[in-house]
Amino acid sequence: MKELSFFDGTFIQTNEKKVCIEDRGYQFGDGIYEATHVYNGKCFALERHLKRCRRSMRELRIPITYMDEELRAIHEDIIQKSQIKDGSIYFQITRCTAPRVHYFPEKVIPHLSMTMRQSDIHSDWQETGIHAVLSEDIRWLRCDIKTINLLGNVLAKQHAHEKDAQEAVLFRKETNLITEGSSSNLFIVKDEVLWTHPINNFILKGVTRSILLEECAPQLGLPVVEKAFSPQFALSADEMFVTSTSMEVTPIISLEGTTIGKGTPGKVTQKLLQAYHVLVKKECY
Ligand code: PDD
Repeated sequence: MKELSFFDGTFIQTNEKKVCIEDRGYQFGDGIYEATHVYNGKCFALERHLKRCRRSMRELRIPITYMDEELRAIHEDIIQKSQIKDGSIYFQITRCTAPRVHYFPEKVIPHLSMTMRQSDIHSDWQETGIHAVLSEDIRWLRCDIKTINLLGNVLAKQHAHEKDAQEAVLFRKETNLITEGSSSNLFIVKDEVLWTHPINNFILKGVTRSILLEECAPQLGLPVVEKAFSPQFALSADEMFVTSTSMEVTPIISLEGTTIGKGTPGKVTQKLLQAYHVLVKKECY
């Protein structure tokens, strides 16, 4: 088992130097990414990730030079060559390398890089729950695009880290509404109803979020409200949790030092996590 990377057609060691200084990913954060998870040697929900990858590229007008079949094949290859059975794959596509000008260069040849490493899922967090802080959402107005330009997210996560919390819950100051987590989607359960922010330009359409809403919540007969809510409303929730590829469904037991519900992972949250694991088993085992 070894950590392995891929760059523009060849497999390389992760620390090998390959990227040009004038890659627009470096200079402008001009690129998109996806993070997928591998269970038992199979990539879960890859089709949904590839679909979102295409959309991000279309929105940023990055030419699509890698077809879905190729991306699927590279995923299979990196899993097989790394021999990692339970791992995380990160891939990014930057627009191109060119002398620095803001507008798109005439000749655009996108770069694809991919890294596979051991699984980064914190099952301990799923069992105990995590602490979260509130952080102002200072990101741009196209959070629906999964761009590598993540400074707003990075600053929020650092704020959480400095407060010994594991996630930052973002809110827009102008509306006093929660959007999502710094690297996750946020949900609350109140009076047996699941609440989450609707899909628009203020949040990323998480693959895990979609699976939860389309498959897990209906299985549990859980009503869903896709409507933005305030931090005050969130603090009165019975349960709170975040979803992402690497966090799956992770309970939040305190927000800004205030206990959520009973201060332990909630029943609905646990049932949703179980339902999610059943889907993973069905697809990957
Ligand atoms: N982040 N919202 C934001 C801002 C995210 O960065 C992520 C994922 C999600 C959840 O998306 P998904 O369910 O498709 O993983 C929501 C990834 C994991 C990351 O940046 O590492």
